[in-house]
Amino acid sequence: MEFLKKGKGGKFLFLAPMAGYTNGACRKIFREYGADGVVSEFVYSRAVLCGGGRILERMRFDESERPVGIQIFGSDPSEMAEAALAIEEKLSPDFIDVNFGCPAPNAVCAGAGSALLRDVPQMGRIIKKMSSEIKRTPITAKLRTGWDSSSIVVPDAARLLEDSGAQMITLHGRTKAQGYEGEANWDLIEEAAKTVKVPLIGNGSVERRDGSSLAASACAGFMIGRAALGNPWIFNKIRAAFENLSASAEEPSARDRARLALRYAELVSGGGYSGIDSENLTHAKTQIMRFLKNAEGFKKLRVGLKNIATLDELKVLLCEYV
Ligand SMILES: Cc1cc2nc3c(=O)[nH]c(=O)nc-3n(C[C@H](O)[C@H](O)[C@H](O)COP(=O)(O)O)c2cc1C
Repeated sequence: MEFLKKGKGGKFLFLAPMAGYTNGACRKIFREYGADGVVSEFVYSRAVLCGGGRILERMRFDESERPVGIQIFGSDPSEMAEAALAIEEKLSPDFIDVNFGCPAPNAVCAGAGSALLRDVPQMGRIIKKMSSEIKRTPITAKLRTGWDSSSIVVPDAARLLEDSGAQMITLHGRTKAQGYEGEANWDLIEEAAKTVKVPLIGNGSVERRDGSSLAASACAGFMIGRAALGNPWIFNKIRAAFENLSASAEEPSARDRARLALRYAELVSGGGYSGIDSENLTHAKTQIMRFLKNAEGFKKLRVGLKNIATLDELKVLLCEYV
C-alpha cells in the first residue's frame, strides 16, 4: 500500500464508498478536488461471477481515479476469492476491499456485510482465502465496531483481519445497530489503529473532529462519507485543519459550484462511467442539485433544471453561470 505515503500532510484522505452516489464520474471529480484515493460502490461477489463481463464492465474505472479500490461483499470465502480474481484480471485496481459493515437487509440476509460482525472467524476465513489466492492486488477490509454496543468486536477483529492477510483496514466507528446515526466511537478507532501494524483508516463523521486530534491520530488516514456529498472541497478543508493552515479552507463561491456542476455534466455526457449513462439524466440532475445546494443565485437555474430533457441542454444551462 505504498500509495498511502502520498497523502498530503501525512494522512491519506479517501472518499468513502457510497452506493448510489460514488459512481465513476463522481469519483473522478473528487480526486480532482482533493481526495487522495477512492473506493467503488460495493458489488455482490455472486453478481460478479454470474453477471460476467457485463458487471465487470460496469465496475470499470478511469485511470485518473487511481489509487482506486473495488469493493465487494459476500459470505463465501471461495466465491469471494473467485470474484476477486476476476476483478484483478479484468480491472487491475490498486486494492480489493471487502465490506463487513453494510447494514442493508439484502447484504445482511445473504450473511454478508455487517452480518459478519456476528461471525468474526468467518471474516478471517474470507480474507485468508482471498489473500492466499490473489497475488498481485492487496486485499483490504472495511468494518464497523460491532453489531451493537453489547457486542463490540474491535480491536480483536482488526487484529484477526491483519493476521489473515488484510493489508489495510478501514474502521467505521459506529455499530450496525447505530446505522448512520449518533457518534462514531473514535476511542475505539484509535485503539484499533494502535493495535494493528497495517494502516488503519478512521471513518465516521471525520469532519466533526478537530484538526489537532486528526493530526495526532494513530490512523494512517481518514475516509469521508456523507459530508463529501455535494462538497468535494471538504477534503482540502479537513487537510487544512490537520495541517493547521487556514488559506485553503475558504468556502467555494457560487461560480465554483457552477463550474463543478458543469464538470460533472461534461463527464456524464462523455459517457462510459460506471453507474450512470447518458440517459440517466435524473441521476445527473440530483447530483448537480447537490453541488449547487446552499449557494445563492441558483434559483432560476434550479427551476430551469426541472425542464431540461438532455445533458446537452443541461450543459448550456450551466454555462450561463460559470
Ligand atoms: C448512501 C450511502 C451508501 C453507502 N454505501 C456504502 C458502500 O457501498 N460500501 C461501504 O463500505 N460503505 C457504504 N456506506 C458507508 C460509508 O462508506 C461510510 O462508512 C459511512 O457513511 C460513515 O461515514 P460518514 O460518517 O463520513 O458518512 C454508505 C453510506 C451511505 C450514506
